[in-house]
Amino acid sequence: MRPLVFAGNWKMNVGPVEAREYLRAFFAAGEIPHERSVWFFPPTVSIEAVAQGIAGHRNVQAGAQDIYWEAKGAFTGATSGALAKQAGARLTLIGHSERRHVFGETDEQTGKKVTAALAADLQPVLCVGETLEQREAGDTLAVVTRQLAAALGGRDGKTRVTIAYEPVWAIGTGRNATPKDAAEVHQAIRGWLKKQAVTAAPYVILYGGSVNLKNAAELLAEHELDGVLVGGASLDPRAWAQLVRTPAA
Ligand code: PGA
Repeated sequence: MRPLVFAGNWKMNVGPVEAREYLRAFFAAGEIPHERSVWFFPPTVSIEAVAQGIAGHRNVQAGAQDIYWEAKGAFTGATSGALAKQAGARLTLIGHSERRHVFGETDEQTGKKVTAALAADLQPVLCVGETLEQREAGDTLAVVTRQLAAALGGRDGKTRVTIAYEPVWAIGTGRNATPKDAAEVHQAIRGWLKKQAVTAAPYVILYGGSVNLKNAAELLAEHELDGVLVGGASLDPRAWAQLVRTPAA
């Protein structure tokens, strides 16, 4: 069986009290299967509760949904990589489409955040993806490559970064890319990473956007996908426990 990552992005849901209950229900289904990793991205206030709740369980890690690029100081409301790490995060999402489109984060800022994550010893999970308008204009690969170049260009080949391809039009909309659509973009991303040599192999590329119990098996049958990044369908611990056990060829 090939290794697969199942990342749950809770967005602005699940406080620390709920997180403890969630994890009890999640682990009631048993330990995470071999060759699979489960990454939880809770809101910042719940990182510590998640880190405590997963301690002693194998193949599972906690991450932040976002970090600020400065290391410390007068930045009210922001969380540095070091603070997230101290709370128990080992990873961080960077440039999630909601950060880009709701909060106006720029390509340049995602680059600064990747640098900050690496400095704090957090593994970045860089999110890239096109809007519907960009897809319809035939600009998907140009947009995704621009986002990759802005965040990763010029780094050395030892950098460990996971990529999440999340078409904006598929996030939270119930419309997901077909496995073939996703595979095409994954292949282009993998090709770019190989050619640029700015990150270390193996290249781990997740797909995200309305992944759920019904479509996960079909998506994971596509070998270009190294896993999934899931929002809505990760919020119910029992359904998520089932999703991370999705059979995959
Ligand atoms: P969704 O969100 O699964 O609810 O579409 C995915 C994401 O934003 O990471």
